Amino acid sequence: MTAVEVWWAKISDVRWELVAELDAAERGRLAAYARQEDKDRFLLGCAVTRRVLGMHLMIPPADVRLDRTCDDCGRPHGKVRTHEMELSVSHSGDLIAVAFHPSTPVGLDVEKVDPGIDADSLATVSLAEVEAKELAKYEPADRARAFTTYWTRKEAVVKATGDGMRADLRRVVVSSPEQPAALLRWPGYAGRVRLVDLEAGSDYAAALAVLTGDPVTVHSIDAAPLLKQTA
Ligand SMILES: CC(C)(COP(=O)(O)OP(=O)(O)OC[C@H]1O[C@@H](n2cnc3c(N)ncnc32)[C@H](O)[C@@H]1OP(=O)(O)O)[C@@H](O)C(=O)NCCC(=O)NCCS
Ligand SMILES: [Zn+2]
Repeated sequence: MTAVEVWWAKISDVRWELVAELDAAERGRLAAYARQEDKDRFLLGCAVTRRVLGMHLMIPPADVRLDRTCDDCGRPHGKVRTHEMELSVSHSGDLIAVAFHPSTPVGLDVEKVDPGIDADSLATVSLAEVEAKELAKYEPADRARAFTTYWTRKEAVVKATGDGMRADLRRVVVSSPEQPAALLRWPGYAGRVRLVDLEAGSDYAAALAVLTGDPVTVHSIDAAPLLKQTA
């Protein structure tokens, strides 16, 4: 059994004192966001990551060393890595979540369902033919949620491997929204993947991919008390 911790924060958990725990690269990214809500989500992702790792390593959050190097361009906006833990960060709307496992790579994706998206157009660039056909069976009013379920399942997989948007999501074929989450095929990828949907409230879809063949259990933890602690 592979047990994954998923720590959840809400945008209202933000406290600007948490900036003191960020490194120089993170402060640079924080400053570059124009919108306050983007700053808040990014800051909370950093703070949850640092506080949870700091607790495990028994060191101050500011002393946790994180590598955010992008595999494409070298700038600090890639998958977050540490020597001590596998992790994955996601934020959307009011929610911020970080998944942790001591040794097995994880990928997490949380998305607020936007009823206004053009699911049919998005399907042409991100769904396989079989998935797009399945999506078309949904009533127009239900299509945004169904598409977002597909999207989070696929994103969770490509975030677990570290490919991110470099992967062609049309080739990452996942089960249909009504079915239990599973990666059905991804030509060229030979590894094992467990996929699970996470409960994130009626306005959101969320999925976790774990690069293992073992069954996965998820422990969801509210990060609010940890974020409230004063140093
Ligand atoms: C990672 C990605 C798939 C998810 O994007 P999203 O759904 O908009 O956002 P999420 O909130 O779910 O995820 C963002 C987190 O993914 C992580 N991430 C970034 N690149 C990643 C990758 N290749 N694999 C896994 N995780 C990645 C980061 O931790 C980021 O959190 P941060 O804001 O704290 O840095 C997407 O941002 C991506 O692939 N970006 C790379 C494309 C790009 O612009 N590249 C620049 C090339 S130079
Ligand atoms: Zn880059």
